[in-house]
Amino acid sequence: MKEFDFIVLGSGIAGLSFALKAAEKGRVALITKRNLSDSNTAWAQGGVACVMSDEDSFELHIRDTLDAGAGLCHEDAVRKIITEGPERIAELVQLGVHFDQRENENGQNELDLGREGGHSKRRILHFRDTTGREIESALIAQIASHPSIDVMENHMAVDFITTGKLGYAMENSCVGVYVLNEATGVVETLRSDVTVLATGGCGKVYLYTTNPDIATGDGVAMAWRAGAAIANMEFIQFHPTCLYHPAINSFLISEAVRGEGAILINGRGRRFMEHHNPQKELAPRDIVARAIDAEMKRSGAKCVYLDITHKPADFIKSRFPSIYETCLRAGLDITREQIPVVPAAHYQCGGVKTDLHGETSLRGLYAIGEVAATGLHGANRLASNSLLEGVVMAHNAFEKATRRQRTPVSIDLTEWRSGSVQDVDELVVISHNWEEIRRLMWDYVGIVRTDKRLQRAATRLRNLHAEVQEFYWNFKVTTDLLELRNLVTVASLVVDCALSRKESRGLHYTLDYPDRDDARFQRDTVMRRI
Ligand code: SIN
Repeated sequence: MKEFDFIVLGSGIAGLSFALKAAEKGRVALITKRNLSDSNTAWAQGGVACVMSDEDSFELHIRDTLDAGAGLCHEDAVRKIITEGPERIAELVQLGVHFDQRENENGQNELDLGREGGHSKRRILHFRDTTGREIESALIAQIASHPSIDVMENHMAVDFITTGKLGYAMENSCVGVYVLNEATGVVETLRSDVTVLATGGCGKVYLYTTNPDIATGDGVAMAWRAGAAIANMEFIQFHPTCLYHPAINSFLISEAVRGEGAILINGRGRRFMEHHNPQKELAPRDIVARAIDAEMKRSGAKCVYLDITHKPADFIKSRFPSIYETCLRAGLDITREQIPVVPAAHYQCGGVKTDLHGETSLRGLYAIGEVAATGLHGANRLASNSLLEGVVMAHNAFEKATRRQRTPVSIDLTEWRSGSVQDVDELVVISHNWEEIRRLMWDYVGIVRTDKRLQRAATRLRNLHAEVQEFYWNFKVTTDLLELRNLVTVASLVVDCALSRKESRGLHYTLDYPDRDDARFQRDTVMRRI
């Protein structure tokens, strides 16, 4: 058994920021299931929404966030995260993060603030179109050489160790975690009074997603199994514009492209967003994604198109170098040609329910970043609010976790027992089930839902769950098997939350209940394992 002051699971903006702060107070284990730089953060293009200009105000950013959240944001969380943003941004800059600047009319340099859907002002700090990568590399540069941080790459968390499972008669608390070391195949036992989940979201539960392969909902699934409260998993955000190309999967065309004036057109070259919302292409994401879905269903087309060709080629190349280069490699010159796009699963707005300091309902377990449901996003996240939430909540969780008293009794942890289990005999079962989950979620639990489709998904997921559990108990655990086990759990949580919300609100739209019903449903959907 290895003992630490803090265990951090996940290496995106939230996990890395927490680890760096915590390392000033004690020994930190930083667990990540692939390499340090493999995170959703590294893929973030748009940027960080934060009030940084005199023409903007906290009240406006708060109002935009509440409007996008469709009546389900927690206003205290929204206020706290938005008003604490500038301090955290200053810390990121101190750590070496660059944000683009531009020369203003007085010849002075100022932040080049971008615009995205749902924002009434320009307030997106960005580094070209690779903001996440910029933040990730600056934080990793600090982490890599830190003497108090043990980085454990290619280690995948299996389950939390709780006093309840160990049989202690005390408030159920998280006291550590079992972690699979991929290189040795051994499941190691890590002990700490503070465990921080920062494992990101669950985009891979859907067939089409803008997320990297690591986004398999591990944190939510583990927290659920340990008995923590999970909230609002029905609110999965579909990004309106994922590149539609046979050779390139999961490549996002940032909302910032629409922020700089790109328009959406259908196969007949007609603009259609004006029929759906007065904000047109810059309406909140749920509206744009549903409009594209409706346009594709109506015409039978496989995609719609994003057109920014009216902007100067030099501007496009310097503002969106990564999008330009990636599309060019695929044979598409976006300075001259329209970009084929489709909606794809992008962000998990619900997650492990926390308070304003990232504390979950399970003592000793904190959740920060996309894995958490703080109340900031409500029923629909405002673009670029997530990196902001990640860095602010890392700080708030750090403040609380360092003040927390240690577990009052000494705990004997049970080591992981593999028993007589064997190597998985038929890998095809894992890949088949994985694909089946992703396909059924896309077909039955997508942008537009019905009770019948959700019921169908629930029935199939119950069978898949039983198959996966049998595998889990009878064979040696591998990363693939653990991810599959987590995917099926998270998919079921999305379906169960969606089935319990008999209205349409924000990202949850169902043909059976097309209207919002504040009297009955203006509340979080909270699930707990019985
Ligand atoms: C984007 O660049 O469109 C993604 C930004 C976000 O999801 O917040």
